[in-house]
Amino acid sequence: MAIERTFSMIKPDATKRNLTGAITKKLEEAGLSVVASKRIMMTKAQAESFYGVHKERPFFNDLVAFMTSGPTVVQVLEGENAVLKNREVMGATNPANAEPGTIRAEFAESIEANSVHGSDAPETAAEEIAFWFGGNEIVG
Ligand code: CMP
Repeated sequence: MAIERTFSMIKPDATKRNLTGAITKKLEEAGLSVVASKRIMMTKAQAESFYGVHKERPFFNDLVAFMTSGPTVVQVLEGENAVLKNREVMGATNPANAEPGTIRAEFAESIEANSVHGSDAPETAAEEIAFWFGGNEIVG
């Protein structure tokens, strides 16, 4: 399996509870390396654009409000099978369905305030990484 990159976000519910380190530790313990990382205040325009695929969903406005409610840490993770590995470490979108030991099982507050985001496929990962990072910000 080739080395792959994926995109990850530590969401406002988690940054507000000082969980950036605890979540990053879980990612690193799973064999993922943080090759880019920055803490941002997402603008409404950025949230609407990043989550544009969900714009017809009933939770879209709440999601945009949540993602602009506090700091987010955007990251690029690198490792073998990084997209799938990150999704395994995150656990299911709804923390009620997340496997024990996963980030969402341990830290998420709700299906919306679910602490982390991770790309769902290599193609999405490339798009999401390019949305937040220039090439010279990624140091592998
Ligand atoms: P994420 O993996 O970042 O992708 C879309 C986000 O929308 C998701 O995590 C949740 O934060 C949010 N979300 C998904 N489904 C729901 C839902 N049914 N109700 C509220 N928020 C949701």
